[in-house]
Amino acid sequence: MKSSASAPGKVILFGEHFVVYGVRAILCAIDKRIRATSQLIDEKEIRIRSEIGDFEAPLHFPEADQGGPRFMRPFLHVTREALREAGERRGVEMWLESEIPPGIGLGSSSAACLAATASVAGLFGKKPREEILRRALEAERLIFEDASGADTSVSALGGLVSYTRDGFERLGSRDELALVIANSRQVHSTREEVLKVREFRAKNPEAFDAMCRDEEALVGSALGLLGSGNLPMLGQLMSKNQEMLKEIGVSTEKLDLLVSEAQKTSYGAKLTGAGGGGCVIALVDKSNMAQTLDSLGKIGQCFVAKVDLDGLRYT
Ligand code: PMV
Repeated sequence: MKSSASAPGKVILFGEHFVVYGVRAILCAIDKRIRATSQLIDEKEIRIRSEIGDFEAPLHFPEADQGGPRFMRPFLHVTREALREAGERRGVEMWLESEIPPGIGLGSSSAACLAATASVAGLFGKKPREEILRRALEAERLIFEDASGADTSVSALGGLVSYTRDGFERLGSRDELALVIANSRQVHSTREEVLKVREFRAKNPEAFDAMCRDEEALVGSALGLLGSGNLPMLGQLMSKNQEMLKEIGVSTEKLDLLVSEAQKTSYGAKLTGAGGGGCVIALVDKSNMAQTLDSLGKIGQCFVAKVDLDGLRYT
């Protein structure tokens, strides 16, 4: 018997970085997924197959010195836990297939952890979404100790999620939202960008406090506009958010170029996630999607994403 599950990637629509200092952020699950398929095998092994590499490990191997690539740890962990819980002595082969480009801030590792957790748990009966979310986050923290849980939550729940350090709230969903996502192909580190902002704040405490208040107001307006579906005004707020991200130093020349090109045809555009590289998002609908895709395609790799309303799925 095979057990499959899939989970979507995400973008941050508003509020990255300021969320670290208590401001609300809005995240959105996108219709690009990672699927995991698991099967019990007679060999006492865990075999992980993926486009970015294969890995095999014995069933019972001390986790602390298991070796192998770090990014495989969550998959080994959730598999061992599921087998242990079910009292199962056979091994597992798991395939991971992804539509989400890795390492560019689109939530691929959270989606992979969720899909893997649900798929391997599903070999012994489906578990509630909340339980899969809890286990997947625990597994993800084996590689990113301070993962906030924001990516994992929006991927599990689907749709739009408002997020503060105190918790999450699923927002009424707007399935007509469409984004052109462009990859700058600049490698970035979330940790470094977060540190950069901390330094900016230390040097400019009053200005930064004022920016946090502005961002809070901007996110509040965005929440209202998401309810009414006013894309032109929502786009303007995205572009305004980009100005603030630029001011705190997390944009780059390449990101600025992609954003300014996108702003010519879309309703508005900004970087998404930590910045310093990664992706830009541009808000579009049918009237300006092709044009935006065309002009951004000349500078970078890009694609259209819509809101994913399902979140984690057993399929
Ligand atoms: O690049 P991402 O998707 O991991 O987003 C980072 C978001 C930050 O606000 C910069 C950091 C955080 O922990 O919220």
